[in-house]
Amino acid sequence: MSEERKLIKVTIDNITIDVEPGTSILNAARSIGGDVAPPAMCYYSKLKGSGGKCRTCLVEVAAGSTADPRPMPKLVASCRTNVMDGMIVKNITSEKVMDARNGVVEFLLINHPLDCPICDQAGECHLQDLSYEHGKESTRYEFKRRTFEKHDLGPYIQLHMTRCILCYRCVFTADQLTNKRVHGVLDRGDHSEIATFIEKNLDNDFIGNVIDVCPVGALTDKTFRFKNRVWFTKPVDAHCNCSKCCGEVQLWMRGDEVFRVTARKDEWGEIKDSTKGGTGWICNECRFEKKSLKDWVVEGPSVINRHSVISQGHYVDLVTPKETISAVMGGRSPKLLMNIHDESDVNKQNIELSKLNRPAHSDDFA
Ligand code: SF4
Ligand code: FES
Repeated sequence: MSEERKLIKVTIDNITIDVEPGTSILNAARSIGGDVAPPAMCYYSKLKGSGGKCRTCLVEVAAGSTADPRPMPKLVASCRTNVMDGMIVKNITSEKVMDARNGVVEFLLINHPLDCPICDQAGECHLQDLSYEHGKESTRYEFKRRTFEKHDLGPYIQLHMTRCILCYRCVFTADQLTNKRVHGVLDRGDHSEIATFIEKNLDNDFIGNVIDVCPVGALTDKTFRFKNRVWFTKPVDAHCNCSKCCGEVQLWMRGDEVFRVTARKDEWGEIKDSTKGGTGWICNECRFEKKSLKDWVVEGPSVINRHSVISQGHYVDLVTPKETISAVMGGRSPKLLMNIHDESDVNKQNIELSKLNRPAHSDDFA
C-alpha cells in the first residue's frame, strides 16, 4: 500500500505554501512564481549537481523550522537549501538580501565586458536582466579585467570567455548529455576558464545544448552570430521527425527565413520537458542544419513573457485604445489626421502594417 507523503509548510515573502519534503527553497519559491522566485544564474533543474556557484539566489531564513525557529545566521543559497516544516524565508521582503544581491551582481560584472550592444545574447541574457534590477551605473574596479587566449570550439559554438561567469552549467550539460566530455573549467581563481582539452572540438551530437543553458553570451551559436537581434525575430514552436532527439524546437524567424533554432524554454529560461516525455534537449542537426522552413512543421507562435524584450516586436493581441482622439490629445481636436499605414510610401501600398500579425520585414516595404 503506497504511503501518502506528508507535505510541509513554508512561508516565503509572507506567502505560505505546502511542498514535498526535500524541496529546495528556490523550487518552493518558483511554485509561488513571479518576483518571489530568486534569480538563479547557475542552478538548472534539469542538470544534476548544478547550483551553489553564483550566489544570486541568496535568501534570508528568518525562522529555520517550527521545531527550531531560530533564524539562520547568514544568508543561504536557496538553490542548495531545502525547506523545513514551518520555515520562514524572506527574498524580496529582505533588505539584507537585496543588498547582498546588488553586491553579487557588482562582483559578476567586475570582469564581464559591457558589450551588450554587440552580444548575441542581448535580449535574453539573465545577467543583463539582473544588472537592470541590481546593477550600478559605474564600476569601482580599477584593475585590468581578465583576458584569455582564444579557444576554437569548432564550427558551431563560439566561446567568449570574458563573458563567462563560471556557472558550470555547460560542463554539467556536456557531462550528462554526451558520452565524451572534452571541456571543463581549467585553473583556479580568476584564471579559471572554460576550455577544451588540447583544443579538441566539441563534436558530440547534443553538445549544442550548452548554448541554451549558458545564462550569458559566453557560448553562442556560430550559425546565428551577428545575423539578427533576437527582438527582431519571431519565435514559433515547430517540430520534425528526428531520430536523434525529440525534434521539438523554437524557430526564430524573420519573414519566412529561419535565423536560429533553439530548444523550447520555460518561464525560468530552462529547457522545457518534451511532450514525448523526458527533457526536450535537441540534437546538433536540428539546431544547426535545419534552417529551412520546409524542414519543420510549424505549430504556431511561441508564448513569450509580455515583459520580455522579445515580445516587443509582436502584433498579436493588439489593443486599440478606447479613448477618442480628443481625449488622448487632452481636449484638442486635430485639424488633419493622416493614417500613416495607408499613406506612407515606405510600406507597399497593399500592405497595412497595423494589420500584420507578425513583425514587419523587408518584403513589406517598397
Ligand atoms: S560558458 Fe556559459 S554555461 Fe559555461 S560556465 Fe561560462 S557562463 Fe556558465
Ligand atoms: S543559483 Fe543558487 S548559487 Fe547560483
